[in-house]
Amino acid sequence: MPKLTIAIDGPAGSGKSSVARQIAGVLGYTYLDSGAMYRALALKALGRKLSIDDEAALEKLAADTHIELKPPTAEQEKAGAKNRVFLDGGEVTDAIRTAGVAQAASRLATIAGVRHVLVAEQQRAGEGGGVVMEGRDIGTVVFPKAELKIFLEASSEVRAERRWKEHQEKGDDLTVFQVLDEVKERDKRDQERKVSPLVRAADAVIVDNTAMDVDETARLIVMLAREREKEIAAKAGRNA
Ligand code: CDP
Ligand code: CDP
Repeated sequence: MPKLTIAIDGPAGSGKSSVARQIAGVLGYTYLDSGAMYRALALKALGRKLSIDDEAALEKLAADTHIELKPPTAEQEKAGAKNRVFLDGGEVTDAIRTAGVAQAASRLATIAGVRHVLVAEQQRAGEGGGVVMEGRDIGTVVFPKAELKIFLEASSEVRAERRWKEHQEKGDDLTVFQVLDEVKERDKRDQERKVSPLVRAADAVIVDNTAMDVDETARLIVMLAREREKEIAAKAGRNA
């Protein structure tokens, strides 16, 4: 069967990481979390006390930074990690999962020069197909020719509740309303920014999983992927 490129985009907490990771496991594809790259760069910028509005400094920082995504260990996977993330060789898998880093990531993600560097790295990481990459602009900018594009949605209340549960498990002292505000603020910035805003690609399938769990959502998308694989194999057969 041909190896597809699968692009999954959607707002915070819509289930992209959990669902994409599961799909990649079933199909034997590589899972790549593009948001982790924005988060890792934000962590570095915060550590250096750079202003998140200093576009030139952040653009330079992106060009001088090496970010790598690897599969999680069995133990990390059990604890909920979907990708291991390395920033200039040091592991930051857990350190990037805070609300503060998420906010800083969404702010530096508005800078065209920063996106330019990270998009090029994402394209390199996914070249050759057999990948499930998730983010905000995967189907529109990173892989506009992806054979399967999914736009994952869920109500903002459900998405915030999912995120809040994760914070609770980690012992973070945030109320569900604080998490809802954080998620809404980030969604608004992601949707309204000038460069590569969060929008559904015209040829993306919308999957609203407000009332679906991760397994159901992943099963549905695997079914769509198998259909695409068959269509492409049949077309290649006809053209042979
Ligand atoms: O990557 P994204 O921000 O889109 O979402 P995620 O990190 O995959 O999911 C956030 C949380 O929601 C995780 O704890 C998932 O297990 C949970 N989730 C869920 O309960 N039901 C779904 N249909 C999707 C995700
Ligand atoms: O996991 P969650 O959905 O909360 O966020 P994420 O996927 O880790 O992404 C963090 C932030 O990075 C987002 O709020 C976006 O601003 C930015 N991002 C982006 O601009 N483009 C991407 N392809 C992925 C993430």
